[in-house]
Formats: sequence, C-alpha cells, structure tokens
Amino acid sequence: MLTLADFELRGKTVFLRADMNCPIDPKTGLILGTKRIEETVETINALKEAKVVVASHQGRVGNCDYTGMRAHAQAMEKILGREITYVEDVIGEAAQNAIKSMKDGEILLLDNLRLCAEENYEFTAEEAVRTVMVKRLAGLFDLCVMDSFPTAHRSHPSLVGLSRALPACAGLLVEREVKRLDEIMTVAKAPHVVVLGGAKVRDRLEAMRLLIANKRADHILLTGLIASVFLRAQGRIKHELGIKNEKDITAMAHSLIGDHPDVFSTPVDLAVNGSSGRLEVDVREVADVHTIGDIGAKTLAHYGRYISGAGTVFMSGPAGMFENDEFSAGTRGLLESISQSMATTIVSGGHLSSALKKYGLDGDVDHVSTAGGALVQYLSGKKLPMIQALDEARRA
Ligand code: 3PG
Repeated sequence: MLTLADFELRGKTVFLRADMNCPIDPKTGLILGTKRIEETVETINALKEAKVVVASHQGRVGNCDYTGMRAHAQAMEKILGREITYVEDVIGEAAQNAIKSMKDGEILLLDNLRLCAEENYEFTAEEAVRTVMVKRLAGLFDLCVMDSFPTAHRSHPSLVGLSRALPACAGLLVEREVKRLDEIMTVAKAPHVVVLGGAKVRDRLEAMRLLIANKRADHILLTGLIASVFLRAQGRIKHELGIKNEKDITAMAHSLIGDHPDVFSTPVDLAVNGSSGRLEVDVREVADVHTIGDIGAKTLAHYGRYISGAGTVFMSGPAGMFENDEFSAGTRGLLESISQSMATTIVSGGHLSSALKKYGLDGDVDHVSTAGGALVQYLSGKKLPMIQALDEARRA
C-alpha cells in the first residue's frame, strides 16, 4: 500500500475516509465512547499542512445509532484542540462550496456519509466511480486517504470509488493495523479461541464459516444476540427474538452448528431483567417477557476455561448490554480473562475498545483493533475491498 510518506501533502485538498462510528446511547442519542474519534488524531495531525475533509458514517439507516455528525465535530474539537468546520451536507452544494473555500491547515467534517443513499449499497470499483457521490466529490480533491479500517470490509463508494478516481493511500491507522495484525498472525498459535458477540448477526455468520474453513477458529464461544440466535437454532430458546430476517438467520445458524458441532459453545445461563434488577437464569427458563442483557456466571466460568487454555484469543463484540452496569459482568469478566491469559490476544470493535478503556485493561492485550466485522473477515483470510482498492491504487 502507498502511505502518507509517498505524497507531498502541503497545500493539497485531502479526502480522509475515517471511521468515527461510535457507540450511541439509545435513550439520549449522546456519544458513549470517543475512542474511534481519538484514533483519527494521528492522521489528521500528519495532514496539518493540507486542507483535510474528514468523512465517516455513523450507524445504519433505521437503527438507534444512526445520527448526524455534529456531536462528532464537537468531540473532535475537544480531542484535537483545533477548530472543526462542520457542514450538514455530504455531496450537495453546501458541502462542495465549503470544501472549495477551505484554506491550508483547515479541517472540515462532512455529515454522515450514509445520508447519501449510494453509501448504503455495495459496488464494484468500476460501478462506484459512476456513482453521483464519486462524480461530485472526486474533482474537489488531490488525494484520498483511506483510514477507515473498521469499514474495510464494505465496498461503498467512499471506500472503493474515490480511491479508484483519485490518487489514494493508507492513513496511519490503517498502516499500523495491517502491519500489527500481519505480525500477530505469523506468530499466532492454536488453539484459536474466538469469542463472538454483538448484534450484527448476518455478518458474523458468514465470517464464522470462513474462520473455521481457514483454521482460524478451533472454538467459538458465543455471546450477545448471536448467542441467542444459536440457542434458538438449537431449540433451547423458544420465543422469537424480534430481529430482521429471523427465520433465515436462524436457519443459517442451524446449518453452521450442524456442520461444526464441536466448534461452537453457547451459553448455559443468561442474565435477564428480573423484577429487582439482574436475574440469572438457566437458558431453558428464559421467557418472552425477559430481555436478555448478558451471559450468566456459569457461562462466564465455562468460557474462561477455554480462554486460559488458548494459544490465540480473538474477541469481537460485547457479551451483552454492557453500557448498563447491571449487564456489564459478562463483557468485563471475559475481558479480564483475556487480559490475564498467556495467549496472543486481540480485542476488536468500537464497543470493546471503549469497554477495555473503561475497565482499565487496555494495556493488557496484544492488539486492540478499532475494527469489528472487518477484523473478523481479515483474520479469516478474506481480501477486504478497501485493502484491495489500496493495492490497486499502488499498482495504478
Ligand atoms: C463497524 O462498527 O463495524 C464499522 O463502522 C462498520 O459498520 P457497518 O457494519 O454498519 O458497516
């Protein structure tokens, strides 16, 4: 990949694709952890002689964490100690005019890229250069800097289109992540234990198949919503979970566990909302009146034994609603086991990096990646579209 060191940056107008997709409090809409914003600082500072237009998505259309970027601009000002111009627009005249009137050393943040419909679809690079987003933006920039490792598995126009239309290189975060992960994967030993949670179930199902096929997952310990899907597939939870395409997703989980029955562990107990707070119950006692908030203590102890016997541990996605103190024990306990283990340890995703920081454990793992789903796919050996786009930019 080309890097910032390969370009003269002074006076250039730079499109910086970052990933500032932060955990958002569903009740207040406030940003819960700014780790991903903090991670952009190094690259923004390296571009201090350029005009820097930062662009990111936040959440998915229709979800509680889908918001504009004003709060991100305010957080950036505090973290960077520099003025940020925020424009409530992505590709329209307001954004274009604001970009054209920038001076060297200025930083502008565009609104949530997913406000532009095209950014919610996957394209080939050839198709992406024909999107209105790329046609309107490309002419305004001299260089495109890809620093959005957590989104490297997406082939949206801002990731594969602008990098095809413009000279492109990796930002410092992408450069560091790729180098560190490659170093780790050359020394990673079996057994490979993967602790998977979080809510992006479909993405995880596909990636798990790849991880198993490429011998990157000897044991998969399931938590969070994905564990509930597998418990449904096993018939151990009877009621519906209320997720999109539940039938298809449960069928996919059923086939995956059927193909690899020895690889998966599912929770034996769960923490639900009892009348006076956290209540731990056997999975067979979970009823549709319950909200599942966490794994229970027996599951935590069981998973802890796999973690202490592992050669490599990779954890992605929280074990439950860890933002709520009543349901944080599972996520916290798993992270503590990982930080005490002798294995090579990788913890990934915005939620878990915030959790590690909150529990004071961020110095105790070998690599804390900003990426979640992208990292699962990267570790499975899949070539990620954004990395491929950077490869092609080097050869162009
Ligand atoms: C993430 O948090 O994993 C990235 O920001 C990608 O988000 P997405 O899964 O909504 O594309």
